[in-house]
Amino acid sequence: KPKHVILTPNLTTCHKSLSDADRPVYCCPPKRESLEPIIDFEFPDISEPIRVRKPAHKVDADYIAKYNRAIAIMKSLPYDDPRSYMRQANMHCIYCTGAYNQQNSNSLLKIHRSWMFFPWHRMMIYFHERILGSLIGDENFALPFWNWDSPEGMFIPDMYLNGSMIDTQRDSSHLPPQVADINYDYFERGLGPEDQISTNVAFMYNQMVSGAKKTELFMGCPYKAGENGFCDGPGTIELAPHNALHTWVGSNLNPEREDLGAFYSAARDPIFYAHHSNIDRLWNVWNELRGNKPAIEDPEWLDSTFYFHNEKSQLVRIKIRDVLDSSKLRYAYEKVENVWLNARP
Ligand code: C2O
Repeated sequence: KPKHVILTPNLTTCHKSLSDADRPVYCCPPKRESLEPIIDFEFPDISEPIRVRKPAHKVDADYIAKYNRAIAIMKSLPYDDPRSYMRQANMHCIYCTGAYNQQNSNSLLKIHRSWMFFPWHRMMIYFHERILGSLIGDENFALPFWNWDSPEGMFIPDMYLNGSMIDTQRDSSHLPPQVADINYDYFERGLGPEDQISTNVAFMYNQMVSGAKKTELFMGCPYKAGENGFCDGPGTIELAPHNALHTWVGSNLNPEREDLGAFYSAARDPIFYAHHSNIDRLWNVWNELRGNKPAIEDPEWLDSTFYFHNEKSQLVRIKIRDVLDSSKLRYAYEKVENVWLNARP
């Protein structure tokens, strides 16, 4: 047992929480998770194939059909089933709106705007991906990534415009062929496609390289357990493109730009998982750029613990130190050119 105080939820406390605009939301599981047996996370067996995540604008029709089938099955599961689509989406709501109190403190646990951002979302999509694969009996199944940092990927990928991938709660003026403004802040820049693309590429260089030279600038500030532990300092990528694209995709007709635009509803849009898959990939890229030396060695971060259901519906206790090496998690990203790397002003 670690001697330091770690950030972790008290599973007996799931309660009503507040949306970004302070409206009450409720996203707790139907029965107390605290009554379920808990298992410690174990790495997938090395005999498992590596799941290769590909750019969403490049996947083929077979893959899209397969993914649609998996989502359709997930959506058909009852809410009692932790693998069901709404339960998956509500994991985000729970950890992002503060539905749990922390262990040993009445402070809420919220994983955005701090150094919890990258590892927590890695965990969420890791379990989600494996559940999707198991629902269709495909242990090669991998999420796609929305390659919005590459000029050909700066659109809502076509695969999200059909079948189970549709979400009607999106800003209709931002559907293709509109080029994404990856630094969107609630107003339309009105740039033509080429100017928007080059603005985006230059912005990526800033968020990944020139503005992200110190660990804290990229990873976000140190969020510690307890009353005054929340730091509220998001990293470069978390602020934008991450937040910016959440807002850009969500519907301008909804009060909080739901679905993608609000924490409580974001993961109801299937594109959420491709958005976070790209963010997860960029975390790896940033680490590679600095020679993969450990960025944060603080045990309070490494031992921070969260809970997710796995593909067998078992409740798993997982720590940040478990997810620092994605190859041990048996997934990888197809190599793509990071054009912004050459965009130094
Ligand atoms: Cu938890 Cu993309 O937000």
